[in-house]
Amino acid sequence: MRKNQFIGVTFVCVCLWVVVTYYLFLDRPLNHKPDQVRDTPQLHDNISLQKQNQIEEHLNLLESKLKEQFLDGEKLLQDLKSIVKEQQLSVKASEDRGVGEEEQLGRQQEEEEDEQINQVRLLAKQILPDGGPVIAVLVFACNRITVSKCIDQLLKYRPSRERFPIIVSQDCGHRPTADVIELYGDEITRIEQPDQSDITVPPKEKKFKGYFKIARHYGWALNYTFFKFNFETAIIVEDDLDIAPDFFEYFLGTYPILKRDPTLWCVSAWNDNGKVGLVDENAPDLLYRTDFFPGLGWMLTKSIWAELAPKWPSSYWDDWVRQPEQRRNRACIRPEISRTRTFGKIGVSNGHFYEKHLKYIKLNEKFVPFTQKNLSYLLKDNYDVQFVKQVYESLVVSYQELKSGSIVSQGSVRIPYHTNDIYKRTAKMLGLMDDFRSGVPRTGYRGVVSFLYKGRRVYLAPNANWKGYDPGWS
Ligand code: UD1
Ligand code: MN
Repeated sequence: MRKNQFIGVTFVCVCLWVVVTYYLFLDRPLNHKPDQVRDTPQLHDNISLQKQNQIEEHLNLLESKLKEQFLDGEKLLQDLKSIVKEQQLSVKASEDRGVGEEEQLGRQQEEEEDEQINQVRLLAKQILPDGGPVIAVLVFACNRITVSKCIDQLLKYRPSRERFPIIVSQDCGHRPTADVIELYGDEITRIEQPDQSDITVPPKEKKFKGYFKIARHYGWALNYTFFKFNFETAIIVEDDLDIAPDFFEYFLGTYPILKRDPTLWCVSAWNDNGKVGLVDENAPDLLYRTDFFPGLGWMLTKSIWAELAPKWPSSYWDDWVRQPEQRRNRACIRPEISRTRTFGKIGVSNGHFYEKHLKYIKLNEKFVPFTQKNLSYLLKDNYDVQFVKQVYESLVVSYQELKSGSIVSQGSVRIPYHTNDIYKRTAKMLGLMDDFRSGVPRTGYRGVVSFLYKGRRVYLAPNANWKGYDPGWS
C-alpha cells in the first residue's frame, strides 16, 4: 500500500519534470516564431497560426492535467505523511502505556507490601494484657501442598492469635502451594521470597543445590521477620513438621530462660535421639541443655539474628550455625520428648535418613504446663553443677554389661568413651545417632549424651576432666 503510493508520487514528479522541460523547450522556438515567419506567404501564415493555436490548446490542457495530477500527488504525499505520523504516535503511546502499567503495578505491589509491613509491625509491638512476649511463628514452605497439615496443627494448638502471629514464607514460586496457603486468609500472614534466580553452585555440589536455595530463603525470611516486621522473637517451623499439643506452651515457658541466660542461643523442640525406647515417656516435662543445635522447630531472638545475619552462609545453614565461630560455646534447650516430628520423607535430603531414623522420633502427647513450672534449673550456673554431678556420680558400666542386664544397682549409669571411634561404635550399638558436627555429638552437652536404655538412664560420657570438643571428630 505504502509502496504503491510512493511509486505514484515518484511517477507524478517524473511526469512534471518531463513536461516542464518540454514546455521550456517549446517555449523558445514559439517565442521566435513570429520573427521567423514574418516574411512567409499568407497561407503559410494561417496554417502555422492554426498549428500554433492547436499546440497552445494542447499545452493548456496538458498543463491543467499536470496541475491536477500534481495536486493529487501532493495530497497523496500529505496523506502518507499524516499516516506515518499517526502510526508513530500510536507506537509511542502504546510503549508509554506499557511502561506506565508496569510501573503502576510495581507501585501498587510496593504499597500493598508497605501496608502489610505496617499492620504486622503493630502486631509485633502489641502489649499483651499479661505483659508476656509476642512471638512470631515463621513457617517455611516451598512446593509441598502438605504445608496445610502443618498450618492446621499450628492453628489448632495456638493458644492466642495475638501472642503467636503466624507468618508463612514461601519459596519456589509453586502456584498450587501458594493457593493452599492463600486459603488461610488473615489467619496467617503470607510472604513470598522474591529471588527465584538460578544459583550457581560449585560443580561438586550440583546435587546439593536445594541446600543453597533453603539458605537463601532462610536469610531473606528471617531478615523480613526481624528487620521489617520487627519481631523480637521467632519460632521457626518447616512445612513438613507435625507439632505437639504443648508446642506453644513449651516455647512460652522456656522463653524467659532464653532471654535471661546469655549462654543460650536457642530453644529447640527436637530431640535427635528421641526415638521410642530411648526416651522416658514418663518424663515429658524433662528438659536439657545441648551444645548440638537440633533445629526442627526452634526459637531465636532478634539479637541472635542480628549477629548471624551479616555473615549468613549461602548453603548448609544448619551445619554452619553449629560451627564454633557461630555457636561461641552457647547452648540450646531441648526436650526429652520431641515437640515436633517430621513427615517430610521426600525433600531436599534423601528419604534414606528418614526411613532409618527420623520416622521413629516420638512426638509428645501429654500437655505439660511449662509456663507454670520453675525452669531455672536450666540456667547454666544451676544446670552445670547439677548435671556434672549427676553424670559423674553415676555407676560406670560397659555396653555389654548394660545390654546383658547384669547391673544390680538401681539408678543411672555411665558408659565412658575417649575416642571418636569408640563413641561411634557404642552409639551405633545403642541405636543412637552416631555423627558429629564440628566435633559435637548429637544432643551432647559437655560431650555427654543422655538417653534411656531398657528403662534406665544412661550417659555416654567423656572423662570427667573433659577439655572441650575436638572439631576434628566427625
Ligand atoms: C534438611 C533439614 C532442615 C534444614 C535443611 C537445610 C532435617 C530433617 N531437615 O532439610 O531442617 O533446614 O536440611 O540444611 O534434617 N525449602 C525452601 N526452598 C527450597 C527447598 C526447600 O524454602 O528450594 C524449605 C522447605 O519448604 C522446608 C525446608 O526448606 O521448609 C527444608 O526442606 P526439606 O525439603 O524438608 O529438606 P530437608 O532435607 O528436610
Ligand atoms: Mn524436611
